[in-house]
Amino acid sequence: MQKAAYSIRPIRDEDIPQVTEIDREAFPGEWLFRPYTSYKQEIHNSLAHYIVACIERGAEWNLGLEDSRKTSWFRRLFNHAMLAEREQSNLRTKEYIIGFAGLWTMLNEAHIIAIAVRNSYRRMGIGEGLLISVIEVANQLNANVITLEVRASNEIAQTLYKKYGFRVVGRRPRYYSDNGEDAILMSTDNITSAPFQAHFQRLKEAHSQKWGIFATQLA
Ligand SMILES: CC(C)(COP(=O)(O)OP(=O)(O)OC[C@H]1O[C@@H](n2cnc3c(N)ncnc32)[C@H](O)[C@@H]1OP(=O)(O)O)[C@@H](O)C(=O)NCCC(=O)NCCS
Repeated sequence: MQKAAYSIRPIRDEDIPQVTEIDREAFPGEWLFRPYTSYKQEIHNSLAHYIVACIERGAEWNLGLEDSRKTSWFRRLFNHAMLAEREQSNLRTKEYIIGFAGLWTMLNEAHIIAIAVRNSYRRMGIGEGLLISVIEVANQLNANVITLEVRASNEIAQTLYKKYGFRVVGRRPRYYSDNGEDAILMSTDNITSAPFQAHFQRLKEAHSQKWGIFATQLA
């Protein structure tokens, strides 16, 4: 049987320091829940559902990090310091978190709060794996529709969402307080409908053909 490259599972309290790192890297102007206590509150909120993508500790040395022979002495020093710091903060956990996603559900609507992947693990299908899992979680929670807000300038995320059937349904002017940027509102059609499900299954299949399987344990 093919071994999964990474797994996606519900977040746990011990993941918070690593998720905070990813949050700060991915959303520099708008840390989602800055202090540890806010994260803790958020993930224990019964309306919120957070998942993480993780690999076995140690595998990060083989994946994603730059080849030190090709980098400058400054970059090597920086990488070394960064890795030492990361090791310090993460030594107690066996898993290395490479991405996370969160959604809120209210009645039949699921709202994506964030999807983020560590810089050095982008363009490897992990963000898409997280979005697939978020859609599956929304399905399990009996949501009919998934909505989100995304920065007008964030074309990468909008491309990913459009691939999965999200359409632009509105705009909130000056929504982001750090730079006054507009938010684009996006929404799916009914995710339980046959056309949405057929498209979703095709994309899931194509994703696993391209990137291999990932293990999921969502509930
Ligand atoms: C958005 C994000 C989660 C994508 O994660 P990723 O793991 O790099 O994405 P994947 O490798 O799974 O790519 C999936 C799809 O996303 C789109 N995409 C990803 N990177 C892209 C890029 N650099 N340019 C254009 N499209 C891109 C493509 O549609 C891609 O599908 P394809 O492989 O068929 O072209 C990641 O860039 C990120 O963490 N960004 C910062 C946080 C953020 O902006 N989150 C979204 C707002 S909530």
